[in-house]
Amino acid sequence: MRFPDYRPRRLRRTEALRSMVREVQLHPSDFILPFFVRHGTGVKIPINSMPGNFQLSPDVLLRELEEPVARGIPAILLFGIPAKKDPVGSEGYAKDGIVQQAVAKVKKAYKDLVVITDVCLCEYTDHGHCGVIKAGDVDNDSTLELLAKMALSHARAGADIVAPSDMMDGRVAAIREALDEAGLDHIPIMSYAAKYASAFYGPFREAAESPPKFGDRRSYQMDPANSDEALREVGMDVDEGADFIMVKPALPYLDIIWRVRNTFDLPLAAYNVSGEFAMIKAAAQAGWIDGDRCMMEALTSIKRAGADLIISYHALEAVRILQGEQASPRKK
Ligand code: PBG
Repeated sequence: MRFPDYRPRRLRRTEALRSMVREVQLHPSDFILPFFVRHGTGVKIPINSMPGNFQLSPDVLLRELEEPVARGIPAILLFGIPAKKDPVGSEGYAKDGIVQQAVAKVKKAYKDLVVITDVCLCEYTDHGHCGVIKAGDVDNDSTLELLAKMALSHARAGADIVAPSDMMDGRVAAIREALDEAGLDHIPIMSYAAKYASAFYGPFREAAESPPKFGDRRSYQMDPANSDEALREVGMDVDEGADFIMVKPALPYLDIIWRVRNTFDLPLAAYNVSGEFAMIKAAAQAGWIDGDRCMMEALTSIKRAGADLIISYHALEAVRILQGEQASPRKK
């Protein structure tokens, strides 16, 4: 097709025409909205580096869920801030842990909402690493047992999906086995299959109070320079029984989303992480970009790259815009 026979601008002339030939459209059901829960009642503590996000006690969480549920967001992802941290992250798999309590309350109030729980020890360990420390590094195989216990306790509390984000080798198989043995073979696993050692998690670590006290996560999370390895990582999790696969972060890794999409046919989630969110918010606050338009463009790019589901702190604001309203009702 060559100019002047083909004139691409013919189909861009009006919004109606553009909408007829639009290849990718965001929908409320594409989104998963993350929340941070902590003990107490009436607690709503703002997270500095993530404007509009809070640490919430379960009762406040129930209130905050009204709007996203009413607007058709199908799922939430829960992270917990425990009362006490220790070397083995005991509250992570305690029956009365904060996530276990919150899940039970949420499922009671909103039985159709899909509640996904993050399975990882870093929020619960006093050293802030995602597993048990032996000889100065995270020990893979002894961590698997704890992750399996944690996933099991989330599922028993009522979680609909468990999402391991620790990046230990073999954790999907270990969790699948534990769930199946306990008669929970109907609970799906959404694995953070290709998760990179990313500086874009910075604001999250403030939100979840989970920065590592020494070293970093490079001995278990992936090297940002690798993409063949991402396919091997995802392939392993698929073989081990993952029901959903995930790429994380999203925006600096759109090529990985694209490669994974073209290699595997499982439902694919992408995590638009805290630092990606914070960059847009900060630049918008400074008046340097149009935050709402940049947000919608970024989210569209994640879907265009091949993600079926987008985990995003922008989810509620984006859905408001999709439904013809202002992103933030508090803003004049
Ligand atoms: C826990 C976990 C992290 C994120 C999700 N689960 C932090 C990390 O790996 O350090 C990051 C999410 C975000 O930045 O929004 N392991």
